[in-house]
Amino acid sequence: MKSLEALFAAAAAVRSNAYAPYSGFAVGAAIRTPSGAIFSGVNVENASYPVGTCAEAGAIAAMVAAGENRIAEILVLGDGEALVTPCGACRQRIREFARDEVNIHIAGPNGLRASFTVGELLPQAFGPSLAESHAP
Ligand code: THU
Repeated sequence: MKSLEALFAAAAAVRSNAYAPYSGFAVGAAIRTPSGAIFSGVNVENASYPVGTCAEAGAIAAMVAAGENRIAEILVLGDGEALVTPCGACRQRIREFARDEVNIHIAGPNGLRASFTVGELLPQAFGPSLAESHAP
């Protein structure tokens, strides 16, 4: 299976587990790391609305918990007419573990809809210095 197809399948598989009783908007995200591993996450909402977390945050947490800290590629999957691009906070979260050239793929239930780079979605980012060893 091609890497993008595997990312889509992973995001689609977890998306049904999203906890989104307040917005009704289920999102799944999947990250591929340079090792080839795939980590996924879903949005987890809360009765105290601002406490809810995005799918991207869940996928990043799973990656870091597994001992990895580089994003080779990330895919976000949600329904609706508008592209489900990462929110501003998640763009910053992604940037922590991804260089400007890394692809952020946006998908709907039927497949890939668009692809951007980290640099396109978060230009002139404040991020880890490229000299830092943990910077991907
Ligand atoms: N959401 C994500 O999980 N990721 C995105 O990229 C966009 C928005 C979630 C947050 C909230 O639970 C719901 O979608 C509606 O905004």
